[in-house]
Amino acid sequence: MKIFIDSADINEIKEVASWGILDGVTTNPTLVCKTGRSFEECVSDISKIVDGSISVEAISTDAEGMVKEGVEWAKVNPKNITIKIPMSIEGLKAVKGLRAKKIMTNVTLVFSPNQALLAAKAGATFISPFVGRLDDISHFGMEIVGDIVQILKNYEFDTEVIVASVRNPLHVVEAVRMGAHIATIPFKVLKQMVEHPLTDIGIKKFFEDYKKIPKK
Ligand code: G3P
Repeated sequence: MKIFIDSADINEIKEVASWGILDGVTTNPTLVCKTGRSFEECVSDISKIVDGSISVEAISTDAEGMVKEGVEWAKVNPKNITIKIPMSIEGLKAVKGLRAKKIMTNVTLVFSPNQALLAAKAGATFISPFVGRLDDISHFGMEIVGDIVQILKNYEFDTEVIVASVRNPLHVVEAVRMGAHIATIPFKVLKQMVEHPLTDIGIKKFFEDYKKIPKK
């Protein structure tokens, strides 16, 4: 499974890239807004660090505008830029238009298997079900991931699932069990995935015992 970081913070992205496990980055206007920098600055810096898909959100509400934005962004990093397109009728049209131009798309704000089916049929490169936001309204967010993975497999779509709105390490475990292609994970959760109290206790004990070994 591929691991993306869900962040526009360059220090977080640099840090996780240094772990050797990072396959891509997803951003959104909320994440970029938190950095206090422009979208262009963030994306240009991320492109220097990560050689993998970098999702950038389209802001237009009509298909023509979204395609135009996609074409402009693709000039910044033709190999890796992926245009995040919100799930809507105009969004579906934009996905079709961008696919024709060989620009990758990530259909975002997906909350149902039917939305995913339509996005895949329109030619989306990626589909992002937002699991945490479904959990927030008392639906099992991960349930739709299982359905979507099955739908894509049944009909051999080349679209990949990005499990998004990940809030805790269990979301990632479930994503892997279900065979999701990718999870986009906030920095805090990536760190939680590394940690285990028994690992810390074990490291401490080995270090203490090492100090007790007689030196030659
Ligand atoms: O990748 C989508 C993500 O950024 C949304 O996460 O926590 O705002 O629901 P959240």
